[in-house]
Amino acid sequence: MNEKFTQLTGRTDFTVLGIESSCDETAAAVVQGGRRLLANIVASQIEIHRRFGGVVPEIASRNHTLALPGIVDEALKAAGMRLSDIDAVAVTYGAGLIGALLVGVSSAKALSYALDIPLIKVNHIEAHICANYLEHSLEPPFIALVASGGHTSIVRVGGYNDYALLAATADDAIGEAFDKVARLIGLGYPGGASVDRLAAGGRPSIKLTKHKQSFTDGNLSYSGLKTAVVNYVHTAKQRGEDINIPDLCASFTVAAVDPLAEYAVSEAVKAGYGKIVLAGGVAANTYLRARLKELGSAAGLEVYYPSPALCTDNAAMVACRGWYSAYEGRNAADLGLNAVSVLKVGE
Ligand code: KG4
Ligand code: ZN
Repeated sequence: MNEKFTQLTGRTDFTVLGIESSCDETAAAVVQGGRRLLANIVASQIEIHRRFGGVVPEIASRNHTLALPGIVDEALKAAGMRLSDIDAVAVTYGAGLIGALLVGVSSAKALSYALDIPLIKVNHIEAHICANYLEHSLEPPFIALVASGGHTSIVRVGGYNDYALLAATADDAIGEAFDKVARLIGLGYPGGASVDRLAAGGRPSIKLTKHKQSFTDGNLSYSGLKTAVVNYVHTAKQRGEDINIPDLCASFTVAAVDPLAEYAVSEAVKAGYGKIVLAGGVAANTYLRARLKELGSAAGLEVYYPSPALCTDNAAMVACRGWYSAYEGRNAADLGLNAVSVLKVGE
């Protein structure tokens, strides 16, 4: 197996099957030559978890087990390939829900063993960043802002296998804050996209506690802002006042995005690479995309983000991250690979 892995290093034509099951999306994808996306199949469990108001880990694991074999078949069919055409299998092994991750990891190990092909371990946050390679002629080095349900991270990407964390979630991640605010105002789960839609029709006129002080020394905190929204809603209810929901969504969005975009752009300017890259589920947010573009361009940076379908969890980004690992002879795994629920960038 090691010899087969080494044979991929430096080759430009090999094909990777990617598998993703870290949260509530079961996904498989096929990537050839690093950036040619041949298939990208995602089965979302959102409808299953919606009535619980969030992801139920055990239910997520069970549904990954049920869905994954069919999703892999579908991805191969869409790519016009058979299992024997795959040169390596890449899988998200962290960060995420441990039981959910284990389903992907076990399936990838089984495929690697049965087909006698290399197994590549993939860090989920790094994979989010790689979604950009599939749509842009982007090359490292650059600074990346990963904004997702589980993470808010600013990352220095020095090369295809060189990731260094500059700042990270201190408490709630930005996506978690979007989801909690959505739930508070009755928008259901996951609410990020609903807050985004409503914010478009509102004005950021409601003063929420300034939480910019929470964005220092590499700590990106959202608990203060979340509490400010909770207090605003409770106070309004106690006084019997109507809440203007679109205005609240717009005010929360601006308060959540502005300091983060400013922080990321200042890190990118400091790094001197001339490029900033957005990634993660919250990268689909209209205001975040526009604000980063505005601030980044004003600072003389090139600004990149994936199309919305590649922002939320998918396996295309996993296959791409895995491809560049094998290309540079990194992140080979064996049948002893285990899932890791808390995993930082670069680990
Ligand atoms: O990256 P992702 O699919 O999962 C994690 O790795 O965490 O991100 C999911 C998060 C959820 O919190 C969801 O509400 C948020 O991304 N999200 C959005 C938007 N679309 C998805 N948040 C704000 N605006 C959006 N348009
Ligand atoms: Zn994710």
